[in-house]
Amino acid sequence: MVIYILPPKNEDYKLYEYLDSMKGEFFLKGIVFSEFLEMVDDKFGFETTEEMIALSDLPSGGAYTSVGTYDHSEIVTLVSNLSKLTKLDEKTLIISFGKHLVTRFQILFPKYFENIDDACAFLEQVNDYIHVEVQKLYEGAELPQISTQRTLDKGLILNYKSARGMGGLAQGMIESTIEIFGAKYECIREDLKSEDECQCIMFTLKKKHQLN
Ligand code: HEM
Repeated sequence: MVIYILPPKNEDYKLYEYLDSMKGEFFLKGIVFSEFLEMVDDKFGFETTEEMIALSDLPSGGAYTSVGTYDHSEIVTLVSNLSKLTKLDEKTLIISFGKHLVTRFQILFPKYFENIDDACAFLEQVNDYIHVEVQKLYEGAELPQISTQRTLDKGLILNYKSARGMGGLAQGMIESTIEIFGAKYECIREDLKSEDECQCIMFTLKKKHQLN
């Protein structure tokens, strides 16, 4: 989706110029970036975070506010440079970030985790409840399409579809959710053919004792 930015009615031209200079097609909320930088600090140290930002030459300069909106390509650049610095592959890093993000969401948004004791029950609420609330909180949030379906063996199929192609993030988030609710499921990822220029993935959660 292309977002057209109209000239400002007030004198906030600096912001307008900055937004105009982004010229990206996709955007992400600052909370995603600030949590990413925090994870890099925790796991690899402050110096690595600084070096990664310096290498990345970001339009935002690497200063994010949680409600601000930034070019999606900045996270791609940051992950790519972190991969160069740590020698860990990008896929592993983005999955780790997904895991970290859910543990942070548990602290920042505890109400979504209350009165639920099962990973499938939690994941069933993401699309129609949690992300709907997120949209109210963070104006203009661009969220993936998630649909879920219970399976006969008491597991769950979760289909992920997004133009931002953050399937690795989704994988980490699902794996972390499973851990939080007692590690009762195994998550199997199957990448599907892309549709409408979106990444499509089917995640199957299977009860652990049912695995051979
Ligand atoms: C308390 C739980 C959750 C909260 C508060 C939350 C919140 C958010 C927020 C704030 C964003 C950024 C939106 C933007 O930048 O415009 C986001 C994006 C995303 N969320 Fe959630 N989320 C939650 C749970 C989950 C779970 C369990 C999944 C697992 C499938 C998930 C999958 C994603 C993905 C993959 C994105 C990146 C955007 C994309 O792929 O299109 N979220 N979420």
